[in-house]
Order: sequence, then structure tokens, then C-alpha cells
Amino acid sequence: MITGIVRSSVRQYVVRQLTKPHSACFVNHRMFSSHENVLEKAKERLSQLTEDPGNEAKLKLYGLYKQATIGPCNTKKPGVFDLVGQAKWNAWYRLGDLSQVEAAEQYSQYVSDLVGEVSSAAKSDTTPVNYQDLLVNDTKGVRIITLNRPSKYNALNYQMYRDLIDAFSSAASNNNVNAVVLTGTGKYYCSGNDLTNFAPSDSLTPQEMASAARLLLRDFVDSIIDFPKPLTAAVNGPAVGIAVTTLGLCDLVYCSERATFHTPFMELGQSPEACSSFIFPKIMGYSKANEVLLLGHKMTADEAFANGLVTRVFPDEQFEEKVKEIVDQIGSLPPMSLRKSKELIRGLETSFLKDVNDKETLLLEERWQSEECFNAIMKFMQRKI
Ligand code: COA
Repeated sequence: MITGIVRSSVRQYVVRQLTKPHSACFVNHRMFSSHENVLEKAKERLSQLTEDPGNEAKLKLYGLYKQATIGPCNTKKPGVFDLVGQAKWNAWYRLGDLSQVEAAEQYSQYVSDLVGEVSSAAKSDTTPVNYQDLLVNDTKGVRIITLNRPSKYNALNYQMYRDLIDAFSSAASNNNVNAVVLTGTGKYYCSGNDLTNFAPSDSLTPQEMASAARLLLRDFVDSIIDFPKPLTAAVNGPAVGIAVTTLGLCDLVYCSERATFHTPFMELGQSPEACSSFIFPKIMGYSKANEVLLLGHKMTADEAFANGLVTRVFPDEQFEEKVKEIVDQIGSLPPMSLRKSKELIRGLETSFLKDVNDKETLLLEERWQSEECFNAIMKFMQRKI
């Protein structure tokens, strides 16, 4: 009965949002027509929701729908007393110059995530979902998420970023999951951002691509900042770029002696991300952090340990066994105690870290459109020709 009422109110909400007369049917018919299918299908999938997705999700849907149908926010910010109006305006305004095409795609993806999240949680708290390039396994209350794209050394493509956001979100809300361990398949832990993410696109301008990539990266990093349960990285081999910087946001970092830690941001015409511009100097001191972030110095496992990025280094042949012991140990500890203590240790900085993340991703959006970055990516893509 209650589910029925919730379902019908979700439907009513969706119908209200999707049938408002300001939709692009009236404003920009050409653009809406070309994305009618994407939005129509997403609309149909939304009706599968059986639970109210919550205000944050509704606002995100609202912002993306407005962006997809009208384009960048073109209305005045509502007055200070109109709190709902302000929240909706912010959700739309925050999308900046994101193209209508990309907004429609993100809207559709988000609907899939919402429908998937709710239905997988409803199915069973104990059934982890696998993704195309991620493996998800549960053992003793610990969820192990494995980057599983070994042919590309587990480089993160756009879909993997989206799937990781989804995997963190479902691990956060699953009562049977008390902690998460992140690791990689094969020789590498992860070779960082998939550099072909930056390949020129026929449908998007470089600015549209950079803007969409910024929002995805920002949301991905936010999903780690917000993750409420202990997050451990088991670095099975070399780590590059974002696979290194996100370690500063993890609660424990174990690595094989084979691991190396490399952030060649300057070489690539880019800049630090995942709050490393703040966290690395904090844990390593400015002089070491600058050697790593500005000069691209590749740290060995022992160096990363000596500089506070890594908790402990294990001989390679013992790595799997040691990680298993750690999983057993974390799994045996009282979950609420772990969770509350993490909140105590990290909580004070959460909002500050989100500001750092915003700043870093804005700079990256600019860098990704620079000639320095373009030339570096082209060099990588043509290196085997
Ligand atoms: N993005 C996309 N593809 C990547 C990748 C990345 N970040 N890292 C590795 N790959 C792919 C390679 O293209 C190659 O695929 P292919 O066999 O289809 O050509 C495969 O993974 C193996 O890499 P390869 O370069 O052949 O191996 P290597 O041992 O000679 O070098 C690296 C390994 C990691 C040093 C090298 O691939 C590299 O520099 N990658 C880019 C790392 C990077 O700059 N990341 C972003 C940081 S911001």
C-alpha cells in the first residue's frame, strides 16, 4: 500500500517535471527532437522507480532535464526566501555550459543508476552487482571492488567512473557492507585516466567535452569524499595519475613492493586532482609533494610509505595473502565503531575537500582545452604509429 502511494507520487513528480510547458519542445525544437528518444526512454525507465529517490536525486534530475531541454540556466536566481526555487535554480545553474546533448545523456544515465540502485538494493542486500569493467565481491561484510580492464592496465574510461560512483553509492547504502577494498586485476593497479577519453568527438566541441568531463570527475571524487565507511586501497602494482591522487582520500593504503606511484600531470599539460593539491603537501610536506605533483617524480613503494601515502608495503608474492588478512581483520571489527570513527577523523574536512575538488576540476577543465594538453594526448595516442 505504502509502496503504491510512494510509487504513484514518484510518478506524479516525474510527470510534472517532464511535462512542464517550459520544456525544449517549445524552446529548442531541433535539439529536443534529436534527443527525444533518449529523454523519452529515460522517462519510461523513471516510472519503474518504486521508492522516492530523495530530494538530492530529484534536484539533479531537475537540473539535467532543464539543461537538456533549454540549455544553460537563463533565469534570475530566486529570492532568498524561496528556498525550493533557489535549490532548483542552483541544480540547473551548477551545470554551467554543459551541452544539451551531454545533459540528455547524463539524465538518461542517472535514471539508469537510480533504477538500478533501487532495484538491486530491493533484490537483496547480499547480491553485489558487477559492471562491465569492475568486479564486485563481498566477503565477511567487506566489499571488494576490482578494476578489471587489464588489457589497458585498468585505465579509467568514462563508464568506469560512472560505475565506480554507482558502486560506492550502493556500498554506502547496503547494510551488509561495512567496508570497501579497491584493487586492480593484472600487472597494474591502474594507469589513471584513460587518455583516449580526450579523443576528439564528432558530436561535442572540446569545450563541451571538457565541461562534461569536469562534472564527471568532480562527482567521482565527491563520491569518495562522501563515502562513509572505511575505504582501503590494495595497490597490487603501478599506479598512475588519478589512481595515485585518490589514495590520499582512502583510509588505508596497502601496496605490493612492485607498486610505483606516478603523477605525470605537467608532462600532460594537466594539473592535480582528487584533492591532492591539498592532501599531498599535508601528508608529505610541500617539497616532496611538489616533486611528485609538479616534476612527476615516480615514487617507489618504499618512498610512498616513507612519505605517508602508503600504510604498509608487502612483498609481491605475499600480497594477496596479506590483503586477505586485512579484509578478515576489517570484517571482524564492529562496523558502527569503524564508521563513526571515520566520520570523526575525516568529517571536519569534508566540505573543505569538496571546495578543493571544485577548484581543481575547474582548472582541469581549462587545462584539457589547452594546446599543451592536446599535444601531449596526441603524442600518447600516436606513440605506437
Ligand atoms: N589510457 C589509455 N590507454 C592506456 C593507458 C591510459 N592511461 N595506460 C595504458 N593504456 C593502454 C595502452 O594504450 C596499451 O593498449 P594497446 O595495447 O591497445 O595499445 C595498453 O594499455 C598497455 O600499455 P603500453 O603503453 O603498451 O604498456 P607499457 O608497459 O609500454 O607502458 C604505461 C605502460 C602505463 C607507462 C603507458 O601505457 C602510459 O604511459 N600510459 C599513460 C599513463 C598516463 O599518463 N595516465 C594518465 C595520467 S594523468
